[in-house]
Parts: sequence; C-alpha cells; structure tokens
Amino acid sequence: MSRFVGVEQAGSVGDGDVDGGASAGPVVTGPGGCFISIEGIDGAGKTSHVDALAERWRSRGLEVVRTREPGGTPLAEVLREQLLTREMDALSEALIVFAARRDHLVQVIEPALARGAVVLCDRFTDATFAYQGAGRGFDLNVLAQLETWVQAGRQPDLTFWFDLPPELAAQRRAAARDPDRFEQQAVDFFARVREGYRLRAQAEPQRFVCIDAALSRDDVAAQLAAALQVRGW
Ligand SMILES: Nc1ncnc2c1ncn2[C@@H]1O[C@H](COP(=O)(O)OP(=O)(O)OP(=O)(O)O)[C@@H](O)[C@H]1O
Ligand SMILES: [Mg+2]
Repeated sequence: MSRFVGVEQAGSVGDGDVDGGASAGPVVTGPGGCFISIEGIDGAGKTSHVDALAERWRSRGLEVVRTREPGGTPLAEVLREQLLTREMDALSEALIVFAARRDHLVQVIEPALARGAVVLCDRFTDATFAYQGAGRGFDLNVLAQLETWVQAGRQPDLTFWFDLPPELAAQRRAAARDPDRFEQQAVDFFARVREGYRLRAQAEPQRFVCIDAALSRDDVAAQLAAALQVRGW
C-alpha cells in the first residue's frame, strides 16, 4: 500500500479547506494541477502505465500524487479490503464505495489539487457506474445522487478509458495472478462493465479519451502520450 502516495499523506493534509460537510464544494485547483483518472476492466493494463505517466510530470518538476480507488487513505483502504473480500448487497457496496471516495477526496485529492499537484487516480467514479451500476444492475439514479452529494462537483479533468474485449483481459489476468471477488465474475459481467464505461464515455466525450488497450504496451503508451500532447500536457 505504501506505493500509493495518498496513503502516506493521509492525516497530514486535508484538515482545513474541504472538510466542511457534505455540501462543501471542491477547492480551486492550483496552477499546474490536474486530476486524471484511469479506468477500464480488470486486467486492461491500467497500472502498467501509471509509472510512465507520473514520470512525465515529475521530470518537469511537478508534484505527482499517485492514488487509487477504492482506497487512497487508511480508512478507504480498509473499506477496499472489505469490498474485495466480503459478499454484500449492491446498495451496501455502493455506499461503502462512496464513503471511501469521500474520505479520499477530503484527505488526499482536493488538498493535492489545491497545491497544484497532478493527481493520477487508478479508477474513480466511472468505475462505480460501470461495476455497481452496469455490472451489478444497481440503480444508476441512486449512484448519480451519491456522486453529486459526495463529490460536490469534482470530476477528473481527463479520464483515460482502457478499452479491450473482456476475453483478452481475462487472459491477461489469468497469466498474472489469482482472482479477487470481482475478477472471479464471468466474462459476461465484464462485458456489462465495459458497456457501462462506454455509456459514461459517450455522455462526457470531452472528458474521456478511449485507449485501445488490446494493443501492445508500446502502442498503448503512444496513445496516452498523443492524447496528452494534444492537450498541451
Ligand atoms: N498492452 C499489453 N499487452 C499485453 N499484456 C499487457 C499489456 N498491458 C498490461 N499487460 C499485462 O496484463 C496484466 C494486467 O495488467 P495491469 O495490472 O496493468 O492491468 P490493470 O488494468 O491495472 O488491472 P486491475 O484492474 O486488475 O488492477 C499484467 O500482467 C500486465 O503485465
Ligand atoms: Mg491495476
């Protein structure tokens, strides 16, 4: 867990500006700051590219905060562990995910953005819509309400969606590790999750960049670099 900067920082930041209750809005992002989320089904290749992305900004002297969801703070990591290992009903799952997200936003993401840091987040709210919504069939309107309540308007500035056929992702996962509770789901579950991501991307085309994650690592890296270059990042 220590590889996530957010875990190390929690407790030392975030005590002031944003912890003003559920209606508190996001703080203003400082100069140079941006919030980038990386999305896609399990085994899509997201984590494989985070180091290189982080280095892109670090080499220019900018602070980079690498973090992930669910998780990113001590409390949220405990909640993550429960989510990945315990069976629970879909509403419980959604509430726990958003409770973890609230802590993560207040303790890590908002303070980092206010400092002008680049926040690289391995999954964010789009994953909740894709997994709990499209994957498990949970009411999207309830998720949208929770999103509004918990995030108070904060969204990533850019979302990389690593898209690939679920069968290919399953092959990569099988080669890499033992499955957790979500990864044990059948390919048709991941097909629904993929469709959930597609709908989110369709609804916010200016925020999303669809990455063809079925290609080689080098080709994926080139797509990421091209998308950032277009934005002058
Ligand atoms: N473009 C690629 N081509 C082939 N294999 C890849 C590619 N990208 C990543 N992999 C391999 O696929 C596996 C999954 O990659 P990675 O852990 O980066 O995926 P992930 O999207 O972060 O998964 P998770 O959502 O479960 O964290 C790893 O074994 C990785 O080495
Ligand atoms: Mg990963």
